[in-house]
Amino acid sequence: MENRTKGRHWLHGGHGHTTALTTDGGYAEYMVAYEDGLISIPDEITPEEAAPLLCAGETTFSALHNSCAKMGDLVAVSGIGGLGHLAVQYARKAGYEVAAISRGTDKKELAMKLGAHHYIDCEVENPAESLKALGGAKVILATAPKASVISSLMGGLGTKGELIIAAVDDTPLDWSAMDFLMGPNTVKGTFTDINEMEAAVKFSVLTDVRPMIEVFPLEQAAEAYEKMMAAKTHFRAVLRIGKS
Ligand SMILES: NC(=O)c1ccc[n+]([C@@H]2O[C@H](COP(=O)([O-])OP(=O)(O)OC[C@H]3O[C@@H](n4cnc5c(N)ncnc54)[C@H](OP(=O)(O)O)[C@@H]3O)[C@@H](O)[C@H]2O)c1
Repeated sequence: MENRTKGRHWLHGGHGHTTALTTDGGYAEYMVAYEDGLISIPDEITPEEAAPLLCAGETTFSALHNSCAKMGDLVAVSGIGGLGHLAVQYARKAGYEVAAISRGTDKKELAMKLGAHHYIDCEVENPAESLKALGGAKVILATAPKASVISSLMGGLGTKGELIIAAVDDTPLDWSAMDFLMGPNTVKGTFTDINEMEAAVKFSVLTDVRPMIEVFPLEQAAEAYEKMMAAKTHFRAVLRIGKS
């Protein structure tokens, strides 16, 4: 009980309790959990589809939900992977004008299918300039985990815009005071939080947002892990425990 309120931990086992990330036991048919580490999952969504919503989904949902963007505003999502493919769907369903930013053209068709109005290939375009040409983004959600990519997005913000960083990279970011003075702009981070998980799942069910998943039986956990680490799963590897 003592650790429950200490610090900020990986949190899906409740406040301060860890499952599977640094403590063994997450890949199991049964586990003991604190009540405050649980949320209810509606029948309209399968457990396999719900699973990625409890991290990738909640992170991007709450980033947008708590952002300054209003219906019709331009919202950009950088990185179309596990987080980004959900962010594009949430942004579209929330009524924003959506720009997807990714490298190359491989993700273009998918991004448009998921709801993007614009696709920006950051290998041939400067995303900041392209967003400025669209009028400047109210919110840019950075999910591509590369500091230089995150830094390059700032110039794409419009008036009183927000750059929200979900991606993890410990390399310093590259901005000057002028980048902020010319806005004024806000840069903030976002971290997955159990408090909005139920809302994220509810919104996903209401608006038909679903993650793209590859399901493996529990017995193939090692194979699933290897494929995930090699970035060969589109987009989330989910372990099926028992029959569902
Ligand atoms: N804040 C939080 O609470 C939270 C929660 C979950 C995850 N995260 C973090 O969020 C980040 C994204 O996670 P994810 O699961 O979405 O990862 P992912 O599935 O690997 O997707 C990352 C995307 O970023 C793109 N990308 C990587 N480097 C790039 C570059 N140099 N230029 C342009 N695009 C680039 C990748 O493009 P390609 O497809 O072309 O490789 C990929 O589409 C990770 O750092 C993860 O640790 C944070």
